[in-house]
Amino acid sequence: MYLRDYEKIHLFLLIFIAQHTTAQNTWSDRIANIIYTKCSNCHNPNGIAPFSLMSYTDASDNATDIQDAVNNRIMPPWPPDPDYNHFAHERVLSQQEIDDISDWVNNGMDRGDSTTEPAPPVFNGISEIPNPDAILGAPVYNVNTTTDLYRCFVIPAGNSIDKYITGIEAIPGNRAVVHHILIYSDTSSVPAQLDAADPDPGYTNFGGTGSQTSKLIGIWVPGQSAYYTPPGMGIKLPANTNVILQIHYPGGISGQVDSTKIALKYSTTTLREIAIESPLNHYQLDNGPLVIPPNQVKTFTAHYVLPIAVSTLAVGPHMHLLGKSIQSYAVTPTSDTIPFIDIPNWDFHWQGVYSFPRVIKVPTNSVLYSSATYDSTANNPENPNDPPAWVTLGESTTDEMMLVYFAYTYYFPGDENIIIDSNVVTDIAQPVTSSIITTAQLYDPVPNPTSERVTIQYFLPHQQSFALQVFDLTGKLIREVKGEEQSGLITSQFDLHEMRRSVHHQINDGRN
Ligand code: HEC
Repeated sequence: MYLRDYEKIHLFLLIFIAQHTTAQNTWSDRIANIIYTKCSNCHNPNGIAPFSLMSYTDASDNATDIQDAVNNRIMPPWPPDPDYNHFAHERVLSQQEIDDISDWVNNGMDRGDSTTEPAPPVFNGISEIPNPDAILGAPVYNVNTTTDLYRCFVIPAGNSIDKYITGIEAIPGNRAVVHHILIYSDTSSVPAQLDAADPDPGYTNFGGTGSQTSKLIGIWVPGQSAYYTPPGMGIKLPANTNVILQIHYPGGISGQVDSTKIALKYSTTTLREIAIESPLNHYQLDNGPLVIPPNQVKTFTAHYVLPIAVSTLAVGPHMHLLGKSIQSYAVTPTSDTIPFIDIPNWDFHWQGVYSFPRVIKVPTNSVLYSSATYDSTANNPENPNDPPAWVTLGESTTDEMMLVYFAYTYYFPGDENIIIDSNVVTDIAQPVTSSIITTAQLYDPVPNPTSERVTIQYFLPHQQSFALQVFDLTGKLIREVKGEEQSGLITSQFDLHEMRRSVHHQINDGRN
């Protein structure tokens, strides 16, 4: 039979509606998809969870535990309060998803039509980053420790020129023993000397790497996925640097072997540099020092006045076993509050660095705040001291800490429109009309940032009118050149001497 176009459309719609109404709350129609996307990345044979959720049988065998865990919001693990702030790629089930899982269990775990069920996801244990530019591996290490062990492994990055990391992923060699990983870069010879002084692979150091010049470039905690930087931004990996992996192995491990790797994606063009620092920290408490008497619930606060406007990308609070809750936010000079994170029930075993779903601008002179509460009573099941005892600042798990890390960069106009996870951001703003020409090259070689005379050269592929804007480190527009319709190679010169500022020093001061 010959169908005219509108009839075809009509027919298609009918089929669609028919399919829709027959969709059941069965494993194959609905539940498999939730489990595979929200649970299987940890619940797989190589994952950190104690059992797999990779098939109908896996899920139905554990059905009542799954029902309890999702109803009580214990699984998937997600410490930040989703009512306070949302994060990119957050591991949170919607109420609908929870209800569907619960109803499915109550109704006897209907499998549905097994021929239409989705295939389980594939985890090959290799990098999640497709085609990484480098995989850096720590040597094979035999883990034998009765107490917490912080072991540093020094790996030459093998880069003869400066590079900018645009993707970074840690791949624990043995997920049963790797608790968390801090990734540093360091161009000094100190880490290699410390390594050489220890006969076994790597060396042991509690606080960081033991080198003053090490820079934090990444953090891995269980459940953490690869981190990709926003477009135009990167984490600098200076030429000929060493990468140091500081791995925390908890006490009580013997006869286990680990060889952890990191996978990197690089850019060789100069990108806006992302820094990871903790301006809110235990050295600058409002009511310090960080000393917690036994049998007390005690709150410490810190604040930090931001000398320049920044674009914040991620936040990562850090405390140890007495930690009970932690919150961080900023207040702008116009009294707007910018929420960062609220962890109402701190869990030492589930720490993370949380990416904001869009870049957040924090204006100059905003005040960053944090408030951290510790519980040294016997009611805290994690309290390492029985009976409760004095606890002070230190690196050991049984000491305490208060750090709020931020991944940030200098603010550029338009940054607040950079979306990291469009599933979370609902109020997408108008796109910026003026675009930043990322291909502009600074030459005569000058350092960037700079206070010298500079030549900027850029290429306009099509005939177009353009605006060239130069910003200082505070994000303030200091020069603007508007051009007529042009194409090809354009050269502009600026003398920046009179614009010299000391902001670069200010932000490095007063931090650990
Ligand atoms: C980020 C990793 C991760 C994700 C994602 C995750 N789990 Fe778990 N799960 C664990 C770990 C680890 C344990 C072991 C107990 C612990 O350490 O809390 C666990 C334990 C469990 C348990 C045992 C009971 C309990 O409360 O300890 C159940 C049931 C469970 N998970 C179900 C789920 C379900 C269902 C999902 C998805 C909706 C899920 N998990 C997602 C890591 C994860």
